[in-house]
Amino acid sequence: MKLAEVTKQPKGFRLTGIYRIARFDVKKKKNGKAYGDCMISDTSGDVPAKYWDITAETAAVMSKHGILRLEAMLDFFKDNPQFTIIRIGVPAESETTAMLRNLGLMAKQDLAVMYGALLEFIAAVGNEQFRLVLTHIFAGEFSRQFQHHPGAVWNHHAWIGGLLEHTLEVAASAVDYCKRNPSVNQDILLSAALLHDIGKVQEIEVDDIGLPVGFTRAGKLLRHIYLGMEQVEYACRATGASPEVALILKHCILAHHGQPEWGSPVEPMMVEAEVLHYLDNLSAKTDQFGRDEERTAPGGFTRSATLRRDVYRPELK
Ligand SMILES: [Fe+2]
Ligand SMILES: [Fe+2]
Repeated sequence: MKLAEVTKQPKGFRLTGIYRIARFDVKKKKNGKAYGDCMISDTSGDVPAKYWDITAETAAVMSKHGILRLEAMLDFFKDNPQFTIIRIGVPAESETTAMLRNLGLMAKQDLAVMYGALLEFIAAVGNEQFRLVLTHIFAGEFSRQFQHHPGAVWNHHAWIGGLLEHTLEVAASAVDYCKRNPSVNQDILLSAALLHDIGKVQEIEVDDIGLPVGFTRAGKLLRHIYLGMEQVEYACRATGASPEVALILKHCILAHHGQPEWGSPVEPMMVEAEVLHYLDNLSAKTDQFGRDEERTAPGGFTRSATLRRDVYRPELK
């Protein structure tokens, strides 16, 4: 049952099901006993909850797992709904994934399937030097992290698998664009599309379930453009790529935000770098408009914090 419906029930109503623990802290009562203070959430809203006399073991489980099976009792504190948690359990991985998808906190498509598509894009790169750099980077632990990582902390694709989803979208657009514009080199544009945001794995800090919580120390100090360029530099050295291949890839990464005021130290100086900037921006903006539209009634406007303008949802959508 959705939380919004549960909170209309009388005091003492039993809640059972899988919910998100949006926030969890251990606090102390006046008598010194510990209790868990948290926020339970689903797509219908957030409700505060308390876990009285919590043990250290239970507190450890609650702080580690953002999605839990709950048994709780509805109560009211100063007329506001609040739950008293009776029991918790860790759901199966498939149940956690389903809940995260339901909350819009995970990519809609299966991560392994999407990663398979990324490997197919790498295999489609004809130039061996570019392909070797890509194969060197998308391997081992990094490939596992890249599959799960969010694409941003707040703005676009800020969910589990969002970075992979965004990268695939930019790569697919790159291939389409090259079909219509033969003067754009597909090997350069596709390689740069796959690599442009790899630095986000080091830049964005994630919690135990993989959701973005802020920036890492390296992320704050260096940002993903520099971190990604450094990773490409190492990969070029490791694979023996030519200085020209290294220069091209590093330039595309450095220039992909388009302008110094948007975080790029250089403006695009190759057509492939320019196209990458627009395709990247298109993917980000389309996602931002989509999410603003979702919370707008047909025929209405919503002020978008990320786009910094009003967004209109056409009546026919
Ligand atoms: Fe970026
Ligand atoms: Fe991007």
